Amino acid sequence: MKDYDVIVVGAGAAGLMCAARAGKRGRRVLLIDHAKKPGEKIRVSGGGRCNFTNIHAGPRNFISENPHFAKSALARYTPRDFLDLVESHGIAWHEKTLGQLFCDGSAREIIAMLMEECAKGGITVALETAASDIARVGERFTMRLNGETASCAALVIATGGKSIPKMGATGFAYDVAAGFGIPVVEPRPGLVPFTLDPALQAELQPLSGIGVDSAVGCGKTAFREAMLITHRGLSGPAILQISSYWRPGQEIAVRMLPDIDLADALIKAKRENGRQSAVTALSNHLPKRLAQYFAEKAGPAGPLADTADKALGTLARAVQDWRVKPAGTEGYRTAEVTLGGIDTNALSSATMEARSVPGLYFIGECVDVTGWLGGYNFQWAWASGVAAGDVV
Ligand code: FDA
Repeated sequence: MKDYDVIVVGAGAAGLMCAARAGKRGRRVLLIDHAKKPGEKIRVSGGGRCNFTNIHAGPRNFISENPHFAKSALARYTPRDFLDLVESHGIAWHEKTLGQLFCDGSAREIIAMLMEECAKGGITVALETAASDIARVGERFTMRLNGETASCAALVIATGGKSIPKMGATGFAYDVAAGFGIPVVEPRPGLVPFTLDPALQAELQPLSGIGVDSAVGCGKTAFREAMLITHRGLSGPAILQISSYWRPGQEIAVRMLPDIDLADALIKAKRENGRQSAVTALSNHLPKRLAQYFAEKAGPAGPLADTADKALGTLARAVQDWRVKPAGTEGYRTAEVTLGGIDTNALSSATMEARSVPGLYFIGECVDVTGWLGGYNFQWAWASGVAAGDVV
């Protein structure tokens, strides 16, 4: 039997950070992952450049049954702290937009940095290793690792959520929680494209590939970014963001061109050049195919001069209050994150330790804390990884 102070299951963003911090405190740490390589989601993130944090990250950017839970960890390990680490490794970075920080080069630099930090902490990494038969025996945990028995004083579960099973995602954390009687908030896909009912999908098919600046709302929440019509439904940052707030059966409200009053703009166009059609006037603001779609659907035919202002108002509303009831989402296959997860009421917000099982910790995406799109999810992985890594 091999004995460790700490075993971390999952060498993703949170697990790597946690293992490095614990190792540097002199703990004997084993970090395991069933994948061939560590940090696969880091590698593909941000289009290969890793949007590794967001300088504006704060509790309001996260979704959880308990919105206060993330405050402590986020306050103690900030985006600036992670940036200091990035800079200390000489990794060049830039701010893209909305506080989103990316590597200038490659996401692989972030993985290499975390592996170097783990090496400094003298931790042991075991890849292609699966944990099973986890049990609490006295004050320690025992488990089988690829058939061999190991034990530890602190067990950290950092296996992420269910998103993108093709990349090795599993519901392992939820199973471990269930095994110890720890409650789990129903997991569901987040930051995920919407699918549409077949009739609307067929109608929008000719528009696929079109993106437009939009404010997309659901209930009281709205996001202002690009919306993209695809051959499978609706996507783009504004849609991914709102998908995390959407529940089946709800309608979303899309306000295209949120900076302009389109009704005013069309009436002005009518005064300036009454011979032009509604499509032509709309095309000054929207891609032509989209202008044609809305003009045909809600718009008046013929020159603007022959069109009542009221009809132009109706057309403007069709564009700026476009109501869509998604049929569903693309699910875990393409979801960037998993909402829900280990119930935060069962964890210490300071350390991520399970209240009912001393020595057992859950960190990262498997916890019921889910960030917006834009570097927030990695910031939660780093912060929760540090919260546990500094105490295990
Ligand atoms: P993560 O998923 O990173 O790691 C979990 C690890 O556990 C994996 O290595 C997995 O192999 C392992 N594992 C799973 N089950 C196991 C088992 N049973 N036994 C052993 N090991 C197991 N976020 C962001 O802030 N900025 C961004 O740019 C992006 N971009 C992005 C792109 C894409 C395509 C996706 C899918 C996601 C993002 N994200 C993101 C989200 C971000 O990747 C995610 O929130 C973090 O990686 C979560 O970190 P964790 O360490 O919790 O899980």
